[in-house]
Amino acid sequence: MLWLFAFTLQAASVSLVYAMQHYPSGWGHYDVCKSQIYTEEGLAWDYMACQPEATDMTKYLRVTLDPPNITCGDPPETYCALENPYMCNNECDALTEELAHPPELMFDFEGRNPTTFWQSTSWKKYPKPLQVNITLSWNKTIELTDDIVLTFESGRPEQMVLEKSLDYGRTWTPYQFYATDCLDAFTMEPKTVKDLTQRTLLDIICTEDYSRGYVWKNDKTVRFEIKDRFALFAGPRLHNMASLYGQLDTTKNLRDFFTITDLRVRLLKPATGATMVDENNLSRYFYAISDIKVQGRCKCNLHANSCVFDKGKLGCECEHNTTGPDCSRCKKHYHGRAWSVGSYLPIPKGTANICDNTPFFNKHRSLPVLPVPLLPFPIFSLSFFSTARVCDNAMLRCQNGGTCHHHQRCLCSPGFTGVLCEDLRRCSGSSPPTGSAPVLAAAVVVMFYDYVI
Ligand SMILES: *[C@@H]1O[C@H](CO)[C@@H](O)[C@H](O)[C@H]1NC(C)=O
Ligand SMILES: *[C@@H]1O[C@H](CO)[C@@H](O)[C@H](O)[C@H]1NC(C)=O
Ligand SMILES: *[C@@H]1O[C@H](CO)[C@@H](O)[C@H](O)[C@H]1NC(C)=O
Ligand SMILES: *[C@@H]1O[C@H](CO)[C@@H](O)[C@H](O)[C@H]1NC(C)=O
Ligand SMILES: *[C@@H]1O[C@H](CO)[C@@H](O)[C@H](O)[C@H]1NC(C)=O
Repeated sequence: MLWLFAFTLQAASVSLVYAMQHYPSGWGHYDVCKSQIYTEEGLAWDYMACQPEATDMTKYLRVTLDPPNITCGDPPETYCALENPYMCNNECDALTEELAHPPELMFDFEGRNPTTFWQSTSWKKYPKPLQVNITLSWNKTIELTDDIVLTFESGRPEQMVLEKSLDYGRTWTPYQFYATDCLDAFTMEPKTVKDLTQRTLLDIICTEDYSRGYVWKNDKTVRFEIKDRFALFAGPRLHNMASLYGQLDTTKNLRDFFTITDLRVRLLKPATGATMVDENNLSRYFYAISDIKVQGRCKCNLHANSCVFDKGKLGCECEHNTTGPDCSRCKKHYHGRAWSVGSYLPIPKGTANICDNTPFFNKHRSLPVLPVPLLPFPIFSLSFFSTARVCDNAMLRCQNGGTCHHHQRCLCSPGFTGVLCEDLRRCSGSSPPTGSAPVLAAAVVVMFYDYVI
């Protein structure tokens, strides 16, 4: 009995050591969901947190314009160049392919010459506002991994809002406001992403960075800066992704901030290039966008490393016995424990949190009934219980790529052993250090325990 008690103490000291250990500077790619490993019990699966690769998400979206008839060319129209009101020979005709500017041209291949772009009707109804909503829908939760970049072929709008939805377009919240004059347009103090701190990262700001300069030759892009926001946790060149992943793991608000199902660009006021609108020549004012970049990945709750586009619909290819478009449920017959999102920690492989069909230590269940000889007194059974769940606790993670099994036993990678896969020496032939003998003995009991229950 004494060695069981010793195990309790040993495990406690082990947990302290690992809690103080720093994560390696390298970080995981999370591109593998499982691999086969050899353990003392033979071949077994080692499960890891995994996610699909980040990719160009504009290939999978549906675009909707509001009002629907806002695209130029029906009826045909000529418009002038903004920088030169005397150049009014640009034609838009929806029925002629070379002169049409449908919304799809915002998502086609860039690098064509001349550039292809979507264009709105001109501001013929001035002073009635010229407002357009461009809504991008994925019908799937996706996680943004890079800046959203809009490239304008007209002057950049004097007022616009980027909005997001996380519930398939039912509700919308702003991501960022853009204006030549934030106070005047939105009664907001102008700010830039550089003003944000870790504490204010989720603040919604109005920026004047992307509205000035109406001339073609000037910068034509409007950004929503994802990477600068990541950098608040991961450092300037995102060298410390471990820190970011740690934050994403523990802060749901932060994770949700970068997660969307839809985006909406609300164009509120076109570039005028001056304080006065030239009412005699309203063909100068319109919106034209040649490109929208959205980089991201399907949100699969760290339970899938691929996402397929099938019958016009994105869906995660769920592993770990999970299911649903986002792998957000356990498969039928795999409710051995409650579903949970995978974890990025510990770096680099994370924790898979698989769904399994072995009802074991259920959080809602009372203490398991221990074989009588193992229960000398109640306090003792409590301490045994807590150490049996050796890898259930965030501080007590399996080391060296081992994965937690049934909340209470680590499946070690080849070459590692010990309760937390921390012991290298046993495999290299030398005898275990004296201090770890009780640990090994206890591990055997834990395994035995597993079969008893
Ligand atoms: C654009 O969408 C917003 C909601 O996000 C709505 O209030 C507004 O009326 C829409 N504008 C147009 C022109 O459809
Ligand atoms: C678009 O349609 C609405 C009615 O649905 C109409 O009032 C408006 O004039 C049309 N706009 C253009 C530019 O054709
Ligand atoms: C969105 O996806 C669901 C399935 O997840 C499907 O039933 C629905 O028809 C889709 N909606 C659209 C507009 O494609
Ligand atoms: C715009 O102004 C130019 C130069 O003043 C003129 O040639 C052109 O016809 C005007 N366009 C319209 C639609 O009034
Ligand atoms: C489901 O889990 C069981 C064991 O927990 C495993 O043998 C099986 O391969 C898993 N299925 C999938 C599709 O991952």
